[in-house]
Amino acid sequence: MSADTSPLETITPSAPVLHAPALPVPGPLGPTGRPVPEFPLPTAVRQHGPASVLAICNQKGGVGKTTTTINLGAALAETGRRVLLVDVDPQGALSVGLGINANILEATLHDLLLGTGGVGAPVAADVVVTTRVPGLDLLPSNIDLSAAEVLLVGEVGREHALARALRPLIPEYDVVLIDCQPSLGLLTVNALSAADGVLIPLECEYFALRGVALLLQTIERVTDRLNPRLELVGILATMHDGRTLHGREVLDRVLEAFPDKLFHTVISRTIRFPETTAAGEPITSYASSSAGAGAYRAVARELLARWPATSDADSGTGAASGAAQPHDTGGR
Ligand SMILES: Nc1ncnc2c1ncn2[C@@H]1O[C@H](COP(=O)(O)OP(=O)(O)OP(=O)(O)O)[C@@H](O)[C@H]1O
Ligand SMILES: [Mg+2]
Repeated sequence: MSADTSPLETITPSAPVLHAPALPVPGPLGPTGRPVPEFPLPTAVRQHGPASVLAICNQKGGVGKTTTTINLGAALAETGRRVLLVDVDPQGALSVGLGINANILEATLHDLLLGTGGVGAPVAADVVVTTRVPGLDLLPSNIDLSAAEVLLVGEVGREHALARALRPLIPEYDVVLIDCQPSLGLLTVNALSAADGVLIPLECEYFALRGVALLLQTIERVTDRLNPRLELVGILATMHDGRTLHGREVLDRVLEAFPDKLFHTVISRTIRFPETTAAGEPITSYASSSAGAGAYRAVARELLARWPATSDADSGTGAASGAAQPHDTGGR
């Protein structure tokens, strides 16, 4: 080899020519380390309803359930879908996050769950409140809901009280998002019984996966015993800090555990989210051009692409319609 020839130049001419089959050109690598597919822009909805129902669930506290419910809901509403958010947490954070004081309302979800349906009892449409976001409505709750949980224990069909309460609303909406409380108690079982799918937000921290096995077991039990429609739609990594090695390691571990279920879209940790809670509105309107708003719009696109139930309102399965139609629950 002469002094001015690099080893690489010497090797290249004799390297075998590979005739690889034509593969789709992978997109750039995303935060989860996988090439990110191009998720299509949501198509217009031809007619509204029946809704697909998604429970946002994780018994671990503070992982971004309420933040995801509000902002995913607002991002879906931006696509022209009619969206109902259901507050199944007696803390009422969903209502607060949308700027609604559920303590001064005449009726809340509590009244629907325990309602007798008799003359003068509130009906679902009376309890729903509109929000400042067009197309986004709320079924609010306050601390009364914890009493409902206790009272429901003695009822026949106690696990289906929420599905019964939602039934008249299903034809009116395209998507219903249920914000669960941080527990696997009766209210959460009600949410899973009323849902077609579950989305699990996971905070990107060291113990992110702790407790997930128990959650998956609960989902499986509800599927077996109460609601065969239920499927795990996906896992959404939240509060991610891509600048730290730790943040990337957590994502690697989640991906290893759930290769098909982890959303490509990852929600970064940013102060903008606590700010929006204080402002009582979704990030999509509070800081419409922020990265956080863009991230939840991407989650909405990915959800619509991943979960056929939401891709067109015509194909909604109508969770609380009473028509229990088992479908593919693969991947659990
Ligand atoms: N991506 C984020 N970056 C920074 N802060 C966030 C992010 N997402 C949520 N937060 C903040 O973290 C806190 C917990 O979030 P959130 O209330 O959505 O969690 P949760 O799972 O609903 O909690 P809980 O289990 O108590 O109902 C809130 O103060 C929220 O503003
Ligand atoms: Mg919450």
